[in-house]
Amino acid sequence: MIELKKINKSFGNKKVINDLDLVIPDGQILAIVGPSGGGKTTLLRTLAGLETTDSGTFLLDGQPFDPAASKQTEQVVGVVFQDFQLFPHLNVLDNITIGPRLVLKQDKETYTKKAENLASLLGIDELLNSYPFQLSGGQKQRLAIARAMAMNPKVLAYDEPTSALDPALRQQVENLILELKADGVTQIVVTHDLVFAENIADKLLKVEPIK
Ligand SMILES: Nc1ncnc2c1ncn2[C@@H]1O[C@H](COP(=O)(O)OP(=O)(O)O)[C@@H](O)[C@H]1O
Ligand SMILES: [Mg+2]
Repeated sequence: MIELKKINKSFGNKKVINDLDLVIPDGQILAIVGPSGGGKTTLLRTLAGLETTDSGTFLLDGQPFDPAASKQTEQVVGVVFQDFQLFPHLNVLDNITIGPRLVLKQDKETYTKKAENLASLLGIDELLNSYPFQLSGGQKQRLAIARAMAMNPKVLAYDEPTSALDPALRQQVENLILELKADGVTQIVVTHDLVFAENIADKLLKVEPIK
């Protein structure tokens, strides 16, 4: 279980996250909804350790952790960013394995096997030798999810997972998130789409820009 206690974050004198308390039980889906500028992406960036907080505590199963600690062998929260942030010069397999290889320092057999399993789980196992430019929007998203999962995060978070996709693919994303839930994956879904959020979430958090 991940808990956030009294998290605060400002940029200059602009407060973006104000005394945020949050509990994400194992295996559940938390949806965070709210208008642009509400601090949703900033919250995900702090969970991924890409942004520091000004104060507050993150707990994993009751133990404090620092998402930005550099010597982590396991990532707590893996984030699938809105623009996917794939490496254009690496094929699908190498996009999935680069983190386990360089950061987790796994051996080749371990990271290759894991990548193959993830690709198969996400339905992109036929594409391991393809490059990002050869993939559809939905396939790129699945690759981004596989890459995040390859780091063995406790929680998988998505920033606006439906925004880069045409409406017909929204249902597919919904199905995928619910399938991962059935596999026991804890997930955070950031969106400004309330209908989508209500369809998938066990718990809904509404955020507003702070005046
Ligand atoms: N690195 C940054 N430096 C300064 N201001 C930022 C930075 N990142 C985000 N902000 C500001 O913080 C606020 C919240 O942004 P963001 O987290 O992207 O919101 P959302 O994802 O809900 O649209 C916005 O006003 C944005 O301009
Ligand atoms: Mg955002």
